[in-house]
Amino acid sequence: MASGEGSNFEALVAACRRGPLEAEVVQLVVNNPSCAARSRAERLGVPCRLVDHRLLTDRQELDRQVSALFSGVGVDLIVMAGWMRIVTPQLIQAFPGRLLNIHPSLLPSFRGIDAVGQALAAGVQLSGCTAHLVVEEVDAGPILVQAAVPVLPGDDRASLAERIHLQEHRILPLAVALAAQRLHGKT
Ligand code: GRF
Repeated sequence: MASGEGSNFEALVAACRRGPLEAEVVQLVVNNPSCAARSRAERLGVPCRLVDHRLLTDRQELDRQVSALFSGVGVDLIVMAGWMRIVTPQLIQAFPGRLLNIHPSLLPSFRGIDAVGQALAAGVQLSGCTAHLVVEEVDAGPILVQAAVPVLPGDDRASLAERIHLQEHRILPLAVALAAQRLHGKT
């Protein structure tokens, strides 16, 4: 699931195709018709479905449609890879233990929007990213993998976010592998 750039989506596809992840990205769902993630899916040959939230009445309806699309293709796991909508129990309860999120902070610090800006404003020296299972509380849920990213003198949102992104691309495939192991009772 992606709403914007889709670099995490592409990193997951690359990890599946070139290793180390033994998985397949069978479908991308986007909520924004003009997002870059959609073009990436086309270039990568990954089927992409659009559910435009602006045409829907509420979050439940968005999640009902997203949930139906994933049920339709029979996925094991779903990754919110830059999904900029708050998800509802409609989706979370349909895929218990199967829905992952990636967030650009060391949770539980700096939940919600502009996590990178929040970290800079707080003056932390260490930031990072977290891949976790999704629960109803936003940016909470069992942590799967984290990576720390030092805040450097002179960092702004863009420079720090860029280095965090690189770590997101590294940990998200690891988190998918871990979530799959948990699901199949191997840990
Ligand atoms: C990432 O920073 C992720 O942590 C947040 O949204 C951003 C998505 O980036 N949830 P991209 O679209 O994968 O490039």
